This record gives sequence, structure tokens and C-alpha cells, in this order.
Amino acid sequence: MAIPDLAIVVPTLNERGNVAELVRRLVACLDGIRWEILFVDDDSSDGTRAAIAELAAADSRVRLLHRVGRRGLASACVEGMLASLAPVLAVMDADMQHDETLLPRMFDLMRRDEADMVVGSRYVDGGSVGGWASDRRRISSFATLLGQKLLKVAVADPMSGFFMLRREVLERALPRLSGKGFKILLDILASAEGAVRVRELPFVFRTRMAGESKLDSMVIYEYGLLLYEKLFGHIVPVRFLMFVSVGGVGALLHLAVLGAAMAVAGLSFATGQSLAALAAMVLNFSLNNLFTHRDLRLRGHHLAGGLIRFMAVCSAGAVGSVAIGSFLNGHGIPWWMAGLMGATVGAVWNYAVTTILVWKRRTGVPPRVS
Ligand code: GDD
Ligand code: MN
Repeated sequence: MAIPDLAIVVPTLNERGNVAELVRRLVACLDGIRWEILFVDDDSSDGTRAAIAELAAADSRVRLLHRVGRRGLASACVEGMLASLAPVLAVMDADMQHDETLLPRMFDLMRRDEADMVVGSRYVDGGSVGGWASDRRRISSFATLLGQKLLKVAVADPMSGFFMLRREVLERALPRLSGKGFKILLDILASAEGAVRVRELPFVFRTRMAGESKLDSMVIYEYGLLLYEKLFGHIVPVRFLMFVSVGGVGALLHLAVLGAAMAVAGLSFATGQSLAALAAMVLNFSLNNLFTHRDLRLRGHHLAGGLIRFMAVCSAGAVGSVAIGSFLNGHGIPWWMAGLMGATVGAVWNYAVTTILVWKRRTGVPPRVS
């Protein structure tokens, strides 16, 4: 098959019951367009890939990109788009929530050069979120407002997971794309260099056909990360900020354990201090494993080795921090400034070295958060 005019990228995570119906609908509505559908599957365990293979055997326009060992809606969309050579790219859910009959109209606006991007929008006249509970409605519109204000994006529905764009728009955004979380459209809009002509077409968000939503409470946290990264990520990387915040929580636990050891258990300062340091390190390791390095999370038998390496690195950091602080204080720097500078060097050391030795990034695997 020659290069298609349009690629539809569909991220999947356990969508076996939906993929055949989606392809059937695309075949029905995309007559006259040379298209392909590219599923990007994050190692689904329910037989999604077998169902896709069956469809591909019957129709060569069906393709699959299988990713192993990582997760993430946004990064799946980006990699799917990059795996196609089509000049126009679309993204949609696998679960029939997005109205596929919009696709030919979106493509038409592109072909007539009336837009660089067309968004399937729930928040323009004629669109709606369908049967959402009022809670989710409120959260969604608040998140939308935040995104619009903070990132200066003038699109009614920047959180939509249903859109089409020219490849050039993606390429202009790529160098600055965060690729984290769910909000791929907002990410592209906030990252694209230069003007993007955006059109919005209304649609009614349908209820999911088979399976269940993969959106959990983590998406709110991930959304926060995306906003932070777009606003301040170039000043202080989000991971470092999280690492330091976790350090702050650890310091509080340290004081609590030390106080309890001396006042309640009647232990000496040295014993209490050792126990407190141990408790703080275990807590910091766990929190960093859960949040800071969520994407590279150590599990099972890797946990023990990771903890030992973490404690070794942080002990070295503590020694260095004391040495630097004492040196500076001995040379006339006020105690608080010397202490702060020692602590800063220790934090940077701990962060940099644990990122290399504890939460190792396999080569070729870009960062992801979700
Ligand atoms: N490959 C991959 N990896 N696919 C994923 C992942 C992942 O980590 N997480 C979710 N998906 C797939 C799902 O299988 C589905 O096809 C699509 O991405 C969207 O996930 P849903 O679980 O259906 O999300 P939703 O319907 O709750 O949220 C939709 O609406 C939001 C707007 O409120 C999505 O379109 C969001 O992108 C959109 O922001
Ligand atoms: Mn969905």
C-alpha cells in the first residue's frame, strides 16, 4: 500500500471487545479516503492484539504497534503518529465514545486547507459530554479552564482525546512535547511553535461500548504535572521538585521518630538519630518509587536492591553535605547559609545519583509518567 492520506491512531489498553466494531465503522465512514488505522497497544492482557491481528489479516489498512514495559496514553499517541508516514493524523479512543462520522468532515477541512488541526469538541454549540455525572462535569470544566488560562490555549475543549492534525504541527511541537499523562492535545497545543489554525467540530461524547475506562484518580495528579512542566519545567525539572518534596516529608518523619525515640522510648540521641535516619530513608525510597519515578517503579525482588543502593547513595550525600556545610561555616559563611548550601549539594547529589543507580532508565525508553 502506498502512503495513506490519513492515519487514525488509536491507543489501546484492554479493548478487545471494541476494536472490531471500531474498524467496521471506519470502513463504513471513510469511503474515498486512503486511510490506515494504527493501534498502539501497551501490552494488553485481554487478547486485544489477537483481535487486531485478525482484523489486519483481513484488511491491510489495520496496523499494530506493540509496546512493552511502559504505559501512557499521550506517549502511545505520539509514537503511533510517528510510526505512520501519513501527512494527516487523527487520534481517537477505541471505545466508540468519539463520533467517527466526524472524521470525513475533519479531513475535508484539512484538504481544503481551512485548518491545521480540527478538534472534536464537547464544549462548542451542538457538542456535549453526554451522560456524565455532574461531579465529573465540574472537574472537567475546571481542568479545562486551568489549561486554557495557564497555557494560553484558545480552544474550547483542549482536553478532548479526539482530534486531527497535519504532521507539520506535530513536528513543530515534538522538541518541547512533555508526552506525560492523558492530555495529548493540550500538550501539542502548548508546545507547537508558531500559529496553528484550529477548528472545532461539535460532537456528543458517547458512553463506552465494551470494557472500562482507564482514567483513574491519577489523571488529576498527572494533569498537575503536565501544567507544572509546561509552566516551570525549564527552570526546575518536575522530578527534582518531587524528589525534594519527598525529602521534606522524610525530614518531618525523621524529627518525629527522633523525638519519640528519646522522649517516649528513652533512647540516646545517637540511637534515636540512627533509627530516625533509617525510617526516613525507607519512607523516602518508597515515596520516590511510588511518585517521583512512578514510570520506572521497582517491584518485587528489585525492591531490596534498590533500597540498599538508595541508602548507600543518600548516606554518601549526607556525609558530603555535612562536610561542605562545615567547610563553609568554618570560612565565615553564616550557619544557616552554610547549612542550606550543604543541603542543596546533598539533594542534587542524591537526586542525580539515585536517578542513575537506583531508577535506571533503559536505553531507548523515553520517560513517561502515566
Ligand atoms: N496504549 C495505551 N496506553 N492506551 C491507553 C492507555 C495507556 O496507558 N490508557 C488508556 N488507553 C486507551 C484506552 O484503551 C482508550 O482506547 C483510550 O486510550 C482512552 O482511554 P479511556 O479509558 O477510554 O479514557 P476516557 O474515555 O475515560 O477519557 C477520554 O476522554 C477524556 C476527556 O475527558 C479520553 O479520550 C481522554 O484522552 C480525554 O481527555
Ligand atoms: Mn474512552
